[in-house]
Amino acid sequence: MTNVLLTGAAGFIGSKTAELLINDGVNLVACDNFNDYYDVRLKEHRVQHIKSLADIPFYNIDIENYSDLSKVFENHKFDSIINLAARAGVRYSIENPFVYATTNIIGTLNLLELMHKHNVGQITLASSSSLYAGEETPFNEEMPVNNPISQYAATKKSAEMLCYSYHHLYNFNTAILRYFTVYGPAGRPDMSYFRFIKWIDEGKTVEIFGDGTQSRDFTFVDDIARGTILSTNVKGYEIINLGGGKTPVTINYMIELIEKYLGKNANISYKPFHSADMKETGADISKAEKLLDWQPYTSIEDGLRISVDWYLKNKDLVKNIIL
Ligand code: UGA
Repeated sequence: MTNVLLTGAAGFIGSKTAELLINDGVNLVACDNFNDYYDVRLKEHRVQHIKSLADIPFYNIDIENYSDLSKVFENHKFDSIINLAARAGVRYSIENPFVYATTNIIGTLNLLELMHKHNVGQITLASSSSLYAGEETPFNEEMPVNNPISQYAATKKSAEMLCYSYHHLYNFNTAILRYFTVYGPAGRPDMSYFRFIKWIDEGKTVEIFGDGTQSRDFTFVDDIARGTILSTNVKGYEIINLGGGKTPVTINYMIELIEKYLGKNANISYKPFHSADMKETGADISKAEKLLDWQPYTSIEDGLRISVDWYLKNKDLVKNIIL
């Protein structure tokens, strides 16, 4: 792998992946549409960091726009596409499902078509643990995942299936990565831990959907980025879980840790459990261990401490971010 197109490079996982790719000496081309689903200043903050590491071509384009994307493929030769450009909020997909369909499905389709046209042989697609709704934990990749409970999950499943068709037709080497609730520094402000850290520190009410006993197999962003890069060597078509792989933690436990790290108590308001949410997630990561020699190194205790430290160092930025 030498020439890589990374989409969604201003995003949470994308920016960390860009950093590791640059450190690996990869010839990287990046793109992002800088949409305003959440405060663009966070995306600019991440990109500033990437640009401090290397002067890479960075396109401000949308993968939904075939003609803009074509130009990127005309300007550069790629061996690999890492598609991390996506609409990723589970609950917002109920409010605005259309953007999920256009970005996650049409955007992926555009990339696959251009890969065919320009003879690119490998794609890594970011997918989601939310596809496993209704299955028993630990989730493994053989489970049928035919009952998505949010439009978000439905569009991710659709993108996986498009990738399968292109693998079948054109033999693309394809890694579908099902990420399990990725967290870490410079994260997404729609996600639980980001909001909880800010709310607890600012003395605002912490809003929990349900009673906080729902659990997630949280996975630290550095571990995810490393697994994402390893997946570009996968042959054939493989669906691979990248998850914490240990005992999933409850939202309540996460809040306890944040309280401890900030030295402040949370003032909690319990709201109804959200119908697009899963009660628990838990990854069987044996396939990732076998195929990628991957496992996560960062515990939730360490990862949340690093996230709180980032918050404290970047309070000037985060204080203006609207949740
Ligand atoms: C996360 C990511 O946001 C998705 O992009 C990803 O695809 C998914 O994980 C995955 O694993 O595949 P989610 O599990 O909803 O989705 O992550 P959080 O936003 O951290 O929510 C975790 C739990 O906390 C949910 O039950 C949610 O309702 C709850 N929550 C969230 C609150 O109680 N209050 C909030 O303010 C935010």
